[in-house]
Amino acid sequence: MNTLFHTPGRGLVRLEIGTPLRSLDQGRSKPILFELDGPDGPAPWVVKPRCLDRRGGAGLLCEVAAADVASLLAVLVPEMGLLSFPSPPLDTEVTELGVRVGEVYRRDEGHLAFCSRYTQGAVPVVEGLFDDLRSVPAAMQADAVRTFALDVWLRHYDRAASNPNLLALEDRLVAIDHGLAFYGVEQIRDDGLSRFEDVDTDGPKLASHVCAPLVARGRHDALLDEIAVQIGAIGDARLDQLASTWPDTLDGSPPARPSGMRSSLLRALRARRDAFPSLLRSVRACLSS
Ligand SMILES: Nc1ncnc2c1ncn2[C@@H]1O[C@H](COP(=O)(O)OP(=O)(O)O)[C@@H](O)[C@H]1O
Ligand SMILES: [Mg+2]
Repeated sequence: MNTLFHTPGRGLVRLEIGTPLRSLDQGRSKPILFELDGPDGPAPWVVKPRCLDRRGGAGLLCEVAAADVASLLAVLVPEMGLLSFPSPPLDTEVTELGVRVGEVYRRDEGHLAFCSRYTQGAVPVVEGLFDDLRSVPAAMQADAVRTFALDVWLRHYDRAASNPNLLALEDRLVAIDHGLAFYGVEQIRDDGLSRFEDVDTDGPKLASHVCAPLVARGRHDALLDEIAVQIGAIGDARLDQLASTWPDTLDGSPPARPSGMRSSLLRALRARRDAFPSLLRSVRACLSS
């Protein structure tokens, strides 16, 4: 099972275009499942189209950085890959899937796509999973607490109960879709800082987090405090080391990606690491009110 998951600082697998298997018809980007050729042979990968359209091109680096940081907190995230859609676009078959893939090939011609290793057998977490903890395995509960802490750190609001971006695999959780992590980081103000620095929307936004009902009960407070200590102990050098594995091509390359995003993300990570105990206090206060 280990090889299917990302480990911190491992970087992304370079993938070549392969065979489309089916459209997943879920999420905003409606990813497509492909069999792709990587270093360990062909395997099923989820390919997300239109990566460049998201957050002025910054979404792709946010997705990679956030998943990398997740793995640092022992949150399971699928192995990551990067694919460049061929130019000129390939021909596709005249089937429903072929027509859909053909559209993607034409629209994303020559563009990069984020890919994640398909987690076979995983199912999306259902709303209300944490309402009755007697049916939730202990390992899964611990994963939920770690995921919540991660999302506080990264100001990641895209794990609402109605759209959890969290899969259940046996007794574990697998976190996916971090394209909206670091909320506001790409919106630069007149003074050169980003909205990330001064927005405080955590409480209400994280109150609708799919794991909030579990955290709100307080039964896992000791684990949450332990994770807070763990986050505080992650040094700048470790974060720099991770960031050095985020592909240069995702930071400021044409046609539309803003430059300096890697530094902005590192600054955001350090600032919220240092502020984590107080961020957590205010989110907890909001959960219990
Ligand atoms: N690695 C994966 N393994 C299994 N299913 C996945 C994986 N990645 C995505 N999916 C499925 O595809 C859906 C959409 O993917 P997601 O990354 O959330 O894209 P979007 O940004 O469009 O919301 C998910 O809700 C999940 O059901
Ligand atoms: Mg999603």
